Amino acid sequence: MKVVDRNNRIMEVELDKKLIAIKQVGAVEMKTIGILTGGGDCPGLNAVIRSVVKAGTSNGLTVWGIKNGFGGLIENEFIQLLPEQISGLLPRGGTILGTTNRDNPFNYRVSRDIAHGEDQSPRAMQNLRDRGIETLLVVGGDGSLRIAYEFWQKYKLPIVGIPKTIDNDLPETERTFGFDTAVSIATEALDRLHTTAESHHRCMILEVMGRYAGWIALHAGIAGGADCILIPEIPFMLEAIAAKIQQRRNQGKQFSIVVVAEGAYPVGGEMTIARVVAGSTDTIRLGGIGNKLAARIEEELGIESRCTVLGHLQRGGSPTAYDRILATRYGAAAVKAVLAGNTGTMVALQANSIVTVPISSVVGKPRLVPVDHELILAGRSIGVSFGD
Ligand code: F6P
Repeated sequence: MKVVDRNNRIMEVELDKKLIAIKQVGAVEMKTIGILTGGGDCPGLNAVIRSVVKAGTSNGLTVWGIKNGFGGLIENEFIQLLPEQISGLLPRGGTILGTTNRDNPFNYRVSRDIAHGEDQSPRAMQNLRDRGIETLLVVGGDGSLRIAYEFWQKYKLPIVGIPKTIDNDLPETERTFGFDTAVSIATEALDRLHTTAESHHRCMILEVMGRYAGWIALHAGIAGGADCILIPEIPFMLEAIAAKIQQRRNQGKQFSIVVVAEGAYPVGGEMTIARVVAGSTDTIRLGGIGNKLAARIEEELGIESRCTVLGHLQRGGSPTAYDRILATRYGAAAVKAVLAGNTGTMVALQANSIVTVPISSVVGKPRLVPVDHELILAGRSIGVSFGD
């Protein structure tokens, strides 16, 4: 009888009620995979690394971690990930591998100061070959998955994408992990802002992240009982916000809560850009609309207003139970895809089941909030203003 031992040796075992002889007769060919985390960090990255290492090693895979996203792939920064290295990772925020949203191997910086660099993808491929890495798992949002897709197209490098981002803006999946935690943090912020709003009879504005999509604002706004929710998909009018605040005053409510997505903008206006980051797959960083809005509400409507910009707090700290579970499911599904040779894909959540979709269907088009989304309709029916 042949058995495979924990070191992947094939052993010939002779049994006749008791063990007679045991000898090695071969070795199982082990696949080697790499995993990197790219783009902005988000809660659940460590949970997904843990899941990939556990599922991978128990299925005979050798797992290499690549440090600092695609930057580490070029700079040859690899560490082998063993089960003993991933203890205690499940609740930890950030990523033990490090990440960056700046390094694109197809347009790689030579120094931090230059916007356009060289095609260093052959170097990245060589580093993968040197380690015997056959399949690359890319845990990323739109930018990182676009780079992964380029490797798949140009080099036929087997890729499996794992969708992460607090923005929840990737197509073909109902959820990216990190989103649930960001919504919880923003909701708690809204609960806390309520007390100051009520005590001071103010209009309190909370600016949340989300890039070009309003998912965080919409979900946190509903969960946190906001009076106005402003999202990029529905350009707003100051008059509509004023009408809502006034309506509340007429009802004896002297305070209002507004959630504004960083990508929200007024009718006929533009998104507010905070900075431009050279070398990033998307160089634009949004931010600043909340303070602009607070100034306008105060000056034009005479209502005392304050803005809180929640910023990177939304990406920090421990993932919620939902995100830990989703990250674990995605990690296990990615390993399953590797073992089945189902590459050029991204794992995704559809109708609460984990599926794989072609990576080509994911890149380059953010998933925006449909203006007739059920949650928008629910919000409208309970009197929330969307500023239109
Ligand atoms: O994509 C995640 C995200 O947090 C966005 O919501 C935000 O616009 C952007 O990243 C901020 O990027 P950075 O960390 O480079 O400031």
